[in-house]
Amino acid sequence: MSPFLLTRTLPEDATDAALRADVLKGLTSTPKTLPPKWFYDAKGSELFEQITELPEYYPTRAEREILVDRAHEIAAVTGARTLVELGSGSSEKTRYVIEALTRLHTYVPVDVSESALAQAGHALVEERPELAVHALIADFTGGLALPDTPGPRLLAFLGGTIGNLLPEERAAFLTSVRALLSPGDALLLGTDLVKDERVLVQAYDDAAGVTAAFNKNVMAVINRELGADFALDAFDHVALWDADREWVEMRLRSRRAQTVKVPALGLAVEFAAGEELRTEVSAKFRRDGVRAELAAAGLELAHWWTDSEERFALSLSVVR
Ligand code: SAH
Ligand code: TRP
Repeated sequence: MSPFLLTRTLPEDATDAALRADVLKGLTSTPKTLPPKWFYDAKGSELFEQITELPEYYPTRAEREILVDRAHEIAAVTGARTLVELGSGSSEKTRYVIEALTRLHTYVPVDVSESALAQAGHALVEERPELAVHALIADFTGGLALPDTPGPRLLAFLGGTIGNLLPEERAAFLTSVRALLSPGDALLLGTDLVKDERVLVQAYDDAAGVTAAFNKNVMAVINRELGADFALDAFDHVALWDADREWVEMRLRSRRAQTVKVPALGLAVEFAAGEELRTEVSAKFRRDGVRAELAAAGLELAHWWTDSEERFALSLSVVR
C-alpha cells in the first residue's frame, strides 16, 4: 500500500475562530455577505458533486474535455514529480493528469473539506498504489506550507474556483502561489469564460434546485456550528449576472422581515423583507484578463487551451 497521509494544518479551534470572525464581520456589514469556503462541510461537498452532474452546470464537463485532450501535453511540458492541487474536492478530473504524469511521486490535494479529502485520497491510493498521497486540510488563501517533496512541482487550481475570489483576493492569492513555485515548476489554472448570460445564470440556478440547496447549506453550517436559528425556507436562492464586473453573484434573499439569532456571537441580525445576503461570486474570464492577472503576479501564460465550445479555459504557466 502507498502512504496516505491526512494532515490538518489548521487546528480545529482556529477553524472555529475563523468561522466566528467571518460570520460576525459578514452579517454586520452593509450589504451582508458570507465568504464561500463555509459552504463545504460534508453535506456541502456532496451537494457540490451533484452540481457537477447537472445538465445546466457545464464547467465540469468542459474542463474535463480539455484535461482529457491535454493531459499528455501537460505531463510532457511539466514533467512534474509533485502535483499540488488547491480546492481539490473529489479529485475526479485530476485523475487524467495523474495518469499522464508517469514520473509522479507525490500528490498533495489541499481542501477545507476533510470529508472530500478522505474520500478522494482513499480512492486514489487504491488506484495508484505506488503514488504517495499527502492530503492537507488547509485554507488556500492563508499562507500555505507545502510538504518537502521532489520537484518539479505542478500546482493545479481547477474548477474555476479562482473566480470565487474577489479581484483583490485573486491578486494576493496568485502572488502567494507564485511564491510557492521555483524555476521549472508550473501552474495549471482553470477559468470559466464569459458567455451568454442565460447559459451562465442557469448554471447557478438549476431547475432541480440543487444549487439552491447548496447555497442554503451555508445557513445550516452556521446553525450547527454557532447555534444560529436561520430558517432555510425563509430565504430564496438568487443567481444573477453582473455585466460590469463579469461575475455571477449568488445571494440569499429574505422572504420576510425577520431576526436571526447567532448565540455563539451574542448577535441578533435583522433582515428586511427582500434583503439580500451575498454568499458567492463566480467570476468569468477572458484570455487577456487571465494573462494580465498572471503577469501581475510574476507568472507568464505559456499555453491556453479551451474546450470545443470555448466555454472554459485551462492555462499553463511555467516558472523560469
Ligand atoms: N476542484 C474541484 C472542486 C471545486 S469546488 C472541481 O473542479 O470539481 C471548490 C473546492 O474548493 C471545494 O472542494 C471546497 O471545499 C474547496 N475550497 C473552497 N474554499 C477553499 C479555501 N479557502 N481553502 C481550501 N479549499 C477551499
Ligand atoms: N467553483 C464553482 C463555480 O464557481 C463553485 C460553485 C458552483 C458554486 N456552483 C455554485 C458556489 C453555487 C456557490 C453556489 O462554478
